[in-house]
Amino acid sequence: MIDFATLVTPGVRDLQPYLPGKPSEEVERELGLRDVVKLASNESPLGPGRLARAALARAAEDVSRYPDASGYYLKRRLSARLGVPPECLTLGNGSNDVLDVAARCFVLPEHEVVLSAHSFVVFGLSARAVSATPIVTPARDWGHDLDAMARAITERTRLVYIANPNNPTGTWSPSADLERFLGAVPEHVMVVVDQAYAEYVERDDYPDCIPWIERHPNLVVTRTFSKVHGLAALRVGYAVSHPQVADYMNRVRHPFNVNRLGLAAAQAALDDDEHVARSVALNREGMGYLTGALDELGLAHIPSIGNFVTVDVGRPAGPVFQQMLREGVIVRPVGNYGMPDHLRISIGLESENRRCIAALAKVLGSI
Ligand SMILES: Cc1ncc(COP(=O)(O)O)c(C=O)c1O
Repeated sequence: MIDFATLVTPGVRDLQPYLPGKPSEEVERELGLRDVVKLASNESPLGPGRLARAALARAAEDVSRYPDASGYYLKRRLSARLGVPPECLTLGNGSNDVLDVAARCFVLPEHEVVLSAHSFVVFGLSARAVSATPIVTPARDWGHDLDAMARAITERTRLVYIANPNNPTGTWSPSADLERFLGAVPEHVMVVVDQAYAEYVERDDYPDCIPWIERHPNLVVTRTFSKVHGLAALRVGYAVSHPQVADYMNRVRHPFNVNRLGLAAAQAALDDDEHVARSVALNREGMGYLTGALDELGLAHIPSIGNFVTVDVGRPAGPVFQQMLREGVIVRPVGNYGMPDHLRISIGLESENRRCIAALAKVLGSI
């Protein structure tokens, strides 16, 4: 028998696969429930808007044809929206894809990748997949400690990942801190700022980051259509960078990595300002309700600017998660993020948020 463990690269041998949120269908099947509420994957409770749905239906007629490999029209729309030339864009199969492409472009096994404790799990996965060494800096108040991250940079560092806001903590780095950090990063280091939840943020001190690329050409900003645009299943994300960086990233990404349905829906979604505004407003209200209700339950939660809130249930969260499943509510345990007593709750529709709080209160009262 071949010992594949000796053949596989060291990084892949030690890789812990990504743990997705539990699908509603699975919970309904396993527990014999109906009307399960899923608040486990930071998805949009409204789903896609009218324009994206119509574009999707039209594009479905043409699925026998390969998509446009260059994503010409989507890039043109993004370019107009973001105020950057199309040459600065790399499209991805979700933003996960472009996060990973960045590591494959810049990082060798002898290199180090700096990331924060409790930061998005894909950062460490992407570093390990290329057999590099992730350097995990301690968090400050659950968020990125940018000073600690700057101190962790060495000659061997090639890449820094920063999630702003971060998942699963919802924490963020304000403009001044992030720009100071970028100013301190040496030229041999690429910095990826992941802004998957940027559209939800309503704070004056939250940086757009894209205009900074001119001043900091080693900066790569990633965004997604999975969150506020409600297109998670279609897998469309993108990176904005210096055009030379985008050229390299585009060489590495797989051909046709964004499918025809995704391209069409994403392009239409970009024009649907009304839908985005509705999603943001619903999120604001839901966040207000959920955080207020958690306060009433006496549960500490981490201040979040995303579409989710992470709560300390004051005991091992695994059994609480399991009991909440029996109440028909799926949330996300985050033990794999070094947060064994926390649950992450995505903001849902008003009725979903209420069911979640009722389930949490019942479960915490019973165990
Ligand atoms: C911080 C962060 N970045 C990136 C992603 C990836 O999303 P997608 O690949 O769907 O664009 C997620 C998804 O949850 C996320 O939380």
